[in-house]
Amino acid sequence: MYTCPRCGDLLQIGYDYKLLASQVRASLNKTGPLSVWRYRKILPVSDEKAVSIGEGGTGLPKSARLAESLDMRDVYFKNEGQNPTGSFKDRGMTVAITRAVEIGAKKVLCASTGNTSASMAAYAAKAGLRAVVLIPKGKIAMGKLLQAVVHGAEISQVEGSFDKALERARRMAATRKSLYLVNSLNPYRIEGQKTMAFEVWEQLGRRIPDAVFVPVGNAGNISAIWKGFQEMKKLKLTNRTPRMIGVQAAGAAPLADAYAKGREKVVAWPHPETIASAIRIGAPASWKKALRAVKESKGTIIRASDDEIMTAQRLLANHEGIFAEPASAASVAGLANAKKLKLVKSRELVVCVITGHGLKDQKAAANFAAL
Ligand code: F0G
Repeated sequence: MYTCPRCGDLLQIGYDYKLLASQVRASLNKTGPLSVWRYRKILPVSDEKAVSIGEGGTGLPKSARLAESLDMRDVYFKNEGQNPTGSFKDRGMTVAITRAVEIGAKKVLCASTGNTSASMAAYAAKAGLRAVVLIPKGKIAMGKLLQAVVHGAEISQVEGSFDKALERARRMAATRKSLYLVNSLNPYRIEGQKTMAFEVWEQLGRRIPDAVFVPVGNAGNISAIWKGFQEMKKLKLTNRTPRMIGVQAAGAAPLADAYAKGREKVVAWPHPETIASAIRIGAPASWKKALRAVKESKGTIIRASDDEIMTAQRLLANHEGIFAEPASAASVAGLANAKKLKLVKSRELVVCVITGHGLKDQKAAANFAAL
């Protein structure tokens, strides 16, 4: 079950925070390597049979050169490309696939712009599950497609955009109970992804950033990271939360649009288009959670053009030694735009989430470099 039978909204996992607070605090007072499973006390599955390939524990380097060029002092990059399959999806997938095994599923399913399918295929392989992937035909980066292929997934191409593929996946999961859907509308995915917030807080010496910039596509990740920060407050680890700033590609920006117009609802874009293929999404499944995250955190959702995204990719690579795929560089393009719009101040502590590795999409980088 992925949605509420009464209202049709996505489900969200909750805990008895009062009961858990002291246990979580005690577990975080113990030193140990950073990883998704360090936060097992606040995860909804047992870690005893965790399907893990070493997810989480990614770097948070402080920017020197790029921050300076933006007239910022305290910018950090959460480098999620360091996860086992090269993107943040592994944080959610380790939990979702552990859950799949727990409930006895034999087959897992997702629709994807590439990274989710790469991650699902790898974790399904590790767990001995069959992996079924739906991708928009001709619209995902070759590196990501190859990952799904080498990890042994069954791949079907769907005409149209990611949104069509997700629609089909949701229908398949609804009619065939043997298929366990692991898109981010599955709340177990969100639980794994929320650990990034806890990790950033620990890496900053238990400080909460002023603002977190997150590339937004289907809008699961921004919702997950916000859930993590909110939970830290509920667990009394901190009394602060950051502003969540979502960044959409200008050609695929239904959320930014709704936010700018003050609409309560998101109107889907039928033909999203951007070089950042990972976030080429017109009907974000988690739109409601994302709008809530932005509102509650006093953040915003902004846009970045393809040129701005590719310039940010180059800046990250040339100034910081980080090769990010275009969708991931959107967080940095968003920061540059936010600074120009005075949505962020020079002295504020900012984290840009770099969601996936640049090697996954060599064509985009090569085209931009005119190679
Ligand atoms: N960055 C990258 C590299 C992604 O692959 C995605 C999403 C996002 C950002 C946006 O995250 O969807 O939670 O808002 N990729 C999905 C996929 C859609 O199928 O791999 P989101």
